[in-house]
Amino acid sequence: MVSREIVPGVFWVGALDFDRRLFDELIPLPDGTSYNSYLIKGSDKTALIDTVDPVKEFELIENLVKLKIDRIDYVVINHAEQDHSGSLPMILEFFPNAKVVTNEKCKELLISLLHIPADVFHLVKDGDTLSLGDRTLEFHLTAWTHWPETQITFLREDKILFPCDLFGFHMASSELYLVEDAVSLRSAKRYYAEIMMPFRNSIKGYIDMVRALSPVMIAPSHGPVHKNPAFILDAYSDWVSDTVKNEVVLPYVSMHGSTQKMVDHFTAALITRGIVVKPFNLTHTDIGDLALSLVDAATVVMATPTVLFGPHPRIVYATYLANALKPKTRYASVIGSFGWGGKSVDTIVKMLDHLKLEVLEPVMVKGQPDEATMQALDRLADDILKKHKENNIV
Ligand code: FEO
Repeated sequence: MVSREIVPGVFWVGALDFDRRLFDELIPLPDGTSYNSYLIKGSDKTALIDTVDPVKEFELIENLVKLKIDRIDYVVINHAEQDHSGSLPMILEFFPNAKVVTNEKCKELLISLLHIPADVFHLVKDGDTLSLGDRTLEFHLTAWTHWPETQITFLREDKILFPCDLFGFHMASSELYLVEDAVSLRSAKRYYAEIMMPFRNSIKGYIDMVRALSPVMIAPSHGPVHKNPAFILDAYSDWVSDTVKNEVVLPYVSMHGSTQKMVDHFTAALITRGIVVKPFNLTHTDIGDLALSLVDAATVVMATPTVLFGPHPRIVYATYLANALKPKTRYASVIGSFGWGGKSVDTIVKMLDHLKLEVLEPVMVKGQPDEATMQALDRLADDILKKHKENNIV
C-alpha cells in the first residue's frame, strides 16, 4: 500500500481495508476500516507501535520494506486483540531481534492467542518510559478501553498519543488526518457506541489523564489521525457523561400489523409531546445505527409481537445487545401484542439487568390494538414525558 510521514521520523505504516463490511462477524462497517501501525525512528532505536490485522500483514511488511527499515528494536503492543497484534508473529520473523514491549496482562494474552515466545518480551508498568535515543516512549495502562490489558503509548517529545482502539473510527480513508465534520462525528460516535460504550465509566478517568498529557496529535489504531485532539476529547467527554437526552429509542418488529399500529400511534404520541423518537424496524435495521442511538437516549421501549411464549427473536437480539453495550439509558418499557399469552415483558426486563433502569408501565394487548390500547400508549408517553421533565432531561 503506502506509508505516510506524520512528523519527521514518525510514519503511518498500517493498512486500509476499504472492502471490509463486517467486524467481529457482527458490526456493520459502512466505511470499511483501517488497522494503523506507526513506525518511530529514534537516534538509537526504532519502534513499531501496534501491527495490523493478519489479513493485511503483507501490506505492513511492504510499507516497512519501502521505507528501507532493516531493524526494529521494539514492537509496542498496546492491545492483544488480533486486529492489532495479529501480524506480530510475522514481524518477529522479519525482525527476530525485536523485543515486544507491553504490560504483564497483555503478555499473557499474546502468549495464549498468538503463541509468542515468553523470552521476547520487555514488560512495562504504568508510567514507565523507554528511550529511543532522542525520543521517549511513555506508557500508561488503560484497562478496559476495550480489553483488560489495553495500554496507551505517548511519544513524549513530539506529544503524539497512540491510544490503539480508544478514540478510533471504523473508517478507511485515503486522508491521513481526520476531516472534522458532522459525518466524522457520527462515525466516531457509532464506533464509540459499538466498541467503547460498555466501558464508559473506565474511560471517564482516562480522558482527564489524556488531557493532562496535552497531546498535539492523537493517532489511534483505526481510522484517521486527529490533528485537533480537542475534537474527539470533547466528544468523548459528552458521550461518557451521565447526561441523557429527551429521546426514546424504539426497536420493533411486527408480524401481522398489531405491533406496527401500536408503534405508529406511540411514535406520534411522543412527537406530539416534544420527545425525539427513533424507531428501528429490526427486520432491516443496521445494528450500528441502533447502537449509536443508545448513546444519549434517556428511554428505550421495546415493541414486540409474541412468538410462541416470548418476544420475537429479533427483539431478544436487540435487547441482548442493548444490555451488553450498557448505555446510560434510565427508563425502559415494553409494548406489543400476543395471541394466547406469553411472558415477553418479563423476558425483556430480565435481559436488561446490566442497566440501572426504572421500568415504566408496559402496554401489551391481546390481538389487535383497540381504543383502550391507544389510550394506554398515550399514558406511557405521558409517563415518559413526566420522568424526563422531573429529571431535567432536555
Ligand atoms: Fe481494534 Fe479491540 O481491537
